[in-house]
Amino acid sequence: MVANELTVAVLGPGGVGGLLAALLSRAGHRVICLAGDETATVLRENGLQVRSGRFGDFTARVEADTELREPVDACLITVKHTALDASLGRVPAAVLGDGLVVPFLNGVEHPAALRLRYRPDRVAPAVIRVESTRVAPGVIEHGSPFAEIDLTGDPVPRGRLDTLAAALDDAGPDAGVLDDETTALWAKMSFLAPLALLTTRYGLSLGDVRTTHRDELTALVTETAAISRACGGPGGPAQALARYDAFPPGMKSSMQRDAEAGRALELDAIGGALLRAAEHHGVPAPVTARVVRELTGTGGSGGETPE
Ligand SMILES: NC(=O)c1ccc[n+]([C@@H]2O[C@H](COP(=O)([O-])OP(=O)(O)OC[C@H]3O[C@@H](n4cnc5c(N)ncnc54)[C@H](OP(=O)(O)O)[C@@H]3O)[C@@H](O)[C@H]2O)c1
Repeated sequence: MVANELTVAVLGPGGVGGLLAALLSRAGHRVICLAGDETATVLRENGLQVRSGRFGDFTARVEADTELREPVDACLITVKHTALDASLGRVPAAVLGDGLVVPFLNGVEHPAALRLRYRPDRVAPAVIRVESTRVAPGVIEHGSPFAEIDLTGDPVPRGRLDTLAAALDDAGPDAGVLDDETTALWAKMSFLAPLALLTTRYGLSLGDVRTTHRDELTALVTETAAISRACGGPGGPAQALARYDAFPPGMKSSMQRDAEAGRALELDAIGGALLRAAEHHGVPAPVTARVVRELTGTGGSGGETPE
């Protein structure tokens, strides 16, 4: 048994949630996956099967249910934005009690929404850098050589964050706690949004976008950085561009992969949230507005469709 065994629920055992659930279970923690009937049945019968260059190929036994029925140390929220509202009914606030609510979603608006529903000082937003895909219910392919987690939560007791970060770190990913929630969330948003919006808009990989649509990429990065700064986040457009230039040319964004597969896009959580923040702070964002408008109607307007 692991020294400090935690009980962790995972709402949405997909690319991110399935990987973390399997790693935590393998490390000796008790894991309860919360999913729809069909996926819960598959998980109970077959466990979670992970294929990962970094963590190995393995099957992890997990508990599975359609709803949280007992308090847990933490509930990881790993559904997509498009399924967030519909899925939260599976985690009643009264049952969760003192447990941490740890959303791994991209975007910047969900922590406030979760704090209306759960104890605000128990909502601990996380940022994850990973490429992991649910190829079938309970079958997860982790493709990136990295898996990095920043845990945050300004009002959350530091000891609670440290305990969970240590459990995640021991289980495999590089996990730590960052002091400033706004900086952490906007750092991810600033990197992700221009890449996601443009690769999806043109159906091109990063390598093509950064050469053939360089001016637009620069404009989006500049606007996003200005919005981030206005919101109290970091804002260095040159840094973001340099990072894009360092990535392999064939890289695709997950929004682009969702578009290719005909799934609902997290457009509202990324582009929509950017534009709402820009308007709130009076920051001009004409290129972002145009690209979001062009994407809306290509699948991106279905922001609230459960997947
Ligand atoms: N995947 C990545 O590499 C990655 C990297 C960084 C950040 N993110 C962010 O992490 C979040 C999750 O992305 P993801 O790629 O892990 O998504 P995903 O693979 O689509 O997984 C989502 C999971 O949610 C489940 N789900 C959907 N509706 C549900 C409901 N009503 N009740 C319970 N479960 C429900 C799905 O169940 P079924 O299996 O039954 O369909 C699926 O297992 C997103 O915000 C994404 O932007 C992802």
